[in-house]
Amino acid sequence: MTTSTNLVLESESAPLSGVPCGPLRGRLRPPGDKSISHRAFIFGLLTVGKTEIEGLLEGEDVLHTGRACAALGARIAREGEGRWSVNGMGLGSLLAPRGTLDFGNAGTGSRLMMGVVAGHGMTAQFDGDASLRKRPMRRILDPLALMGAEILGEAEGGRCPILLKGTAEPLPIEYRTKIASAQVKSAILLAGLNSPGRTVLVEPQASRDHTEKMLRFFGAAITSESFETHGRKISLEGRPELRPARIIVPADPSSAAFPMVAALIVPGSEIVIEGMMMNPLRTGLLTTLWEMGAAIEVLDRREEGGEEVADLRVRASTLRGVDVPAERAPSMIDEYPILAVAAAFATGETRMRGLSELRVKESDRLAAIAAGLRAAGIGCAIEADDLIVEGACGDVPGGGFAATHLDHRIAMSFLCLGLAARKAMTVDDERMIATSFPTFKAAMAQLGALFS
Ligand code: S3P
Repeated sequence: MTTSTNLVLESESAPLSGVPCGPLRGRLRPPGDKSISHRAFIFGLLTVGKTEIEGLLEGEDVLHTGRACAALGARIAREGEGRWSVNGMGLGSLLAPRGTLDFGNAGTGSRLMMGVVAGHGMTAQFDGDASLRKRPMRRILDPLALMGAEILGEAEGGRCPILLKGTAEPLPIEYRTKIASAQVKSAILLAGLNSPGRTVLVEPQASRDHTEKMLRFFGAAITSESFETHGRKISLEGRPELRPARIIVPADPSSAAFPMVAALIVPGSEIVIEGMMMNPLRTGLLTTLWEMGAAIEVLDRREEGGEEVADLRVRASTLRGVDVPAERAPSMIDEYPILAVAAAFATGETRMRGLSELRVKESDRLAAIAAGLRAAGIGCAIEADDLIVEGACGDVPGGGFAATHLDHRIAMSFLCLGLAARKAMTVDDERMIATSFPTFKAAMAQLGALFS
């Protein structure tokens, strides 16, 4: 793989409108899960031998992680559509990268790879696009420094570009995170992998558990138990013998969310979403939409590659406003922009609680959602960390312009809003959609969505 910078960022911005359309109909398989795809490349790098991946998300974010893994010595090849192989160097035997590791827009890739580098005797420079350069990295760097890594350079406030020096003898630590973040948890576990002892991590609320599940699958000794009311305590024995594995990546619930909500709000729609991952730490949106009265039927629950998946039949529905508890946030953290769109079409008010983490995603999503909703003629307010949306009972004016701030999910959310509003909704830039759902426009158009 090449390590060239993200070409997407070098071209002109590309505005796009979601245009009011007739009923959405048909079947769609969303792309592979982004979280699992990043991890598949990384665990492949850390394992000697050939890791085979099926259904990988071939989006810009994941490809950046792939290039970083290649820079650390992995031989990565594309064998067919979504089919990739990784011949890894193995834990403790990575090569020091020669150039800067460029992660583009990818918070997950950069943070997880900081964990990898921290646990190896090498120095690496981490950087990315304007959005990544705004994201806080202290939450990762602080625990990694406790394990023995040194931060040799950083932009103001612990931001990229960051020059990180790892250690071949990372200290095993017991660490309690203040936020429920799978990225923080994973960075610590990845550094702890090469530690001679046991790394213990306590999180206040359970965040997505893909790192734990995949580490176990690759042969590591890792346990996870409940901690207090909503938390988890995870213990990992360092220096495991990781074995190459075959990974089947299920469809990403965070991408499925867009056609799902679009079908709920465009009158007369009926679609089937195929193979969506049903991991309970990722299905908070489904729970919330059911509470709102959404007609979503679960068909054919089955297991694929160690995760439960299902097909979902989604029919256009009259939605009602709900109160979404803060404890649910980790299981739907990326889905608030599109939930806010569903709430705009509902009857009554929706209050989404405890959204402080949305301020530090690819954009300040709280502000971007509120601005976009107002531009679409929807009343909304931010009260402390809560977002309140005034539902327009299915009659959303639209006709506005939403600024995406290099954020793929803001772009897709407001395009979906335009499909069901009275007038088209325009986003300033569709390019970032390629980071997580490169086939979004074509797949949605196949269902009957209109874009111009
Ligand atoms: C991710 C964790 C979440 C999520 C991100 C993917 C992961 O971030 O928002 O899109 O794959 O670990 P946080 O850990 O910051 O909550």
